[in-house]
Amino acid sequence: MAMEAEAAPLRAALGAVSIESPSWAASLPVRLAVAPASGDRPEVVLAVNGTDPATGVDCIGSTAAALSTHVALGLGPADIVITAGTAGGWQRADAAIGDVYVAWPHIACHDRRIELPGFDRFGRGEIPTADLRDLAGELGCRLGIVTTGDSLDESTTDRERILASGAEVKEMEAAAVAWVAQLHGTPVTGVKAITDLVDSPVATATQFTENLAAAAESLQATMVNLIDRLGDQ
Ligand code: ADE
Repeated sequence: MAMEAEAAPLRAALGAVSIESPSWAASLPVRLAVAPASGDRPEVVLAVNGTDPATGVDCIGSTAAALSTHVALGLGPADIVITAGTAGGWQRADAAIGDVYVAWPHIACHDRRIELPGFDRFGRGEIPTADLRDLAGELGCRLGIVTTGDSLDESTTDRERILASGAEVKEMEAAAVAWVAQLHGTPVTGVKAITDLVDSPVATATQFTENLAAAAESLQATMVNLIDRLGDQ
């Protein structure tokens, strides 16, 4: 997860306890916590990007997300990686604030434009997600392609690329998390709660700030249910 405000409700609901990062990662901002297995619930390692020492804000975006995922997976093998957080949706796709999406059938990037043979596909970075369609339906989640870029706004070029890709969920970490999970041979999914509608006349930052706390609560409720059902399987 990227932001402390997104992660705090889930950490509390799971009763996850902070652990030290391995010594090789001690200088990285990632914060790790572990919730032990209990009943149907599997052990959960919660990795949050942490704060940037230079600016003091949460390290949102793909660079920190890749580092956090690598540190978490370095602790030992995992059955699945879940990139969880908040995201933008679109009115044109019938999204509503508070909707929770499960990434399907892939996670991709929209702001890596490399018009060179082979590198164009690398830039799009499409990574297939675990097939959790049934579970998503049981949890009342929507399904959609999650697309990642390192900006909160949507430039004209982003808009064109996102429309062409068919993506329904826009955020800033999933593709980086998915890439590192794939490098580790671990299945990946994304669970994203909508804080803002990108095609609304209200500024994205205003919507995001207003809806962050409520979206983090829906995210927490969905994540706990998802984790318990995954433990069942
Ligand atoms: N996180 C929440 N809303 C977002 C948006 N519109 N774009 C990127 N990341 C987001």
